[in-house]
Amino acid sequence: MSLSQIAKSISGSPTLALNEKAAILREKGAPVIHLGGGEPKSRAPLDAILAAVQNLNTGEVRYVSPDGIPALKKAIIRYTEEFYNRKVAPQNVIASSGAKQAIMVALQTILNPQEEVIYPAPYWVSYPDMAKLCGAIGVPVYAEDGSFYPTIRDIEQRVGSYTKAVILNSPNNPSGARYSEEFISNVVQFCEKRDIYLIMDDIYHRLIYDGRKPINCYDYAKDFSENSKLIVVNGVSKQYAMTGFRVGWAVASKKIIQAMTNIQGHQTGGSSVVLQLAAAGAINGIQSSVENLRVTLENNRNVLVSLLRSFNGVKVTNPDGTFYCFADFSYYEKSSQKLSEFLIDKVQVLTVPGIEFGMEGYLRVSFCGAIKDIQDGIERMKWALDPNSPNELYIGDRKLVRDWS
Ligand SMILES: Cc1ncc(COP(=O)(O)O)c(C=O)c1O
Repeated sequence: MSLSQIAKSISGSPTLALNEKAAILREKGAPVIHLGGGEPKSRAPLDAILAAVQNLNTGEVRYVSPDGIPALKKAIIRYTEEFYNRKVAPQNVIASSGAKQAIMVALQTILNPQEEVIYPAPYWVSYPDMAKLCGAIGVPVYAEDGSFYPTIRDIEQRVGSYTKAVILNSPNNPSGARYSEEFISNVVQFCEKRDIYLIMDDIYHRLIYDGRKPINCYDYAKDFSENSKLIVVNGVSKQYAMTGFRVGWAVASKKIIQAMTNIQGHQTGGSSVVLQLAAAGAINGIQSSVENLRVTLENNRNVLVSLLRSFNGVKVTNPDGTFYCFADFSYYEKSSQKLSEFLIDKVQVLTVPGIEFGMEGYLRVSFCGAIKDIQDGIERMKWALDPNSPNELYIGDRKLVRDWS
């Protein structure tokens, strides 16, 4: 069959494939523990549900404008004022089907074939394929000191004549690293100076720990004119536990937003009005669920990190935010793909191989699930990996026997 070059160059989302694998194993009755997830398990805010139900009850659910309904734009404008101390107009805002679509449409708006978009590694799995979908090239930037915290020098060294854009995701999926204010400020100013687009993927910005506050990129920007190339992306998926609602947004200059609207108008025609109303409900509603989620996640992180630190061979960097820990398991197995498969096959614990995020030898272990799952999952992993562990492990009344060394 003759498929397009682009179709042939794109691989399926590895995290979605893992979810499917876990679901199939579960259907067969396997006691799977999913430590590979990318979504909080709490309920969506009541304000979101009520807004959606009210609209559904009218029985008249129609097309709306592709850049988002006024009620959601208004909520995003208020959100931008509250968290970014920045007043924007409705023409500076586009609502999309998730932050994912907002980033994709932004890239389609700014990238020409063969141009480059650079992002620090480890990086979110979708960035390289999104670049490919534009016929462009994704370029990961590795911190020279091997950490999860690149410096402005690391970025500068990868910028060349083909560089069109930088994406920063802080706190970062998968490392949990929240880049320093100094680093973000340097990147904002560097991009302005070099006339490079900067996409701030802020989807986890409120899910940060140890008393840290979200970083506001606008604090470091100087150019607030129509020529500004700063695009800030956010959404309801993570902070409000509304992944399935598929609502995210971008805030940028009117010119950029108009171009993004033109593209989005031919793609999906925008996010469903029902779900946009739900997102507006969440943003305008009682905010306690965000803080409750943040506190739960911080506690989960503490438990997970202390359990991982009890392994002889695991190197752990404490995540500053998100709900992922990106730990170095290379002592046990250099290939993260092999290690991840070994863990699902032998002890039915699902983790995501680091290679998918551009770093071999690591596993991404999520702490967005139940604390009991984190404890049991890590216990099983330790049993599987530690050669000194007993020969047998009980999972309920199932007996696992080591047949490997
Ligand atoms: C770094 C990052 N950006 C964007 C997204 C997309 O979020 P949404 O569900 O709003 O499309 C995700 C989701 O996992 C993510 O991890």
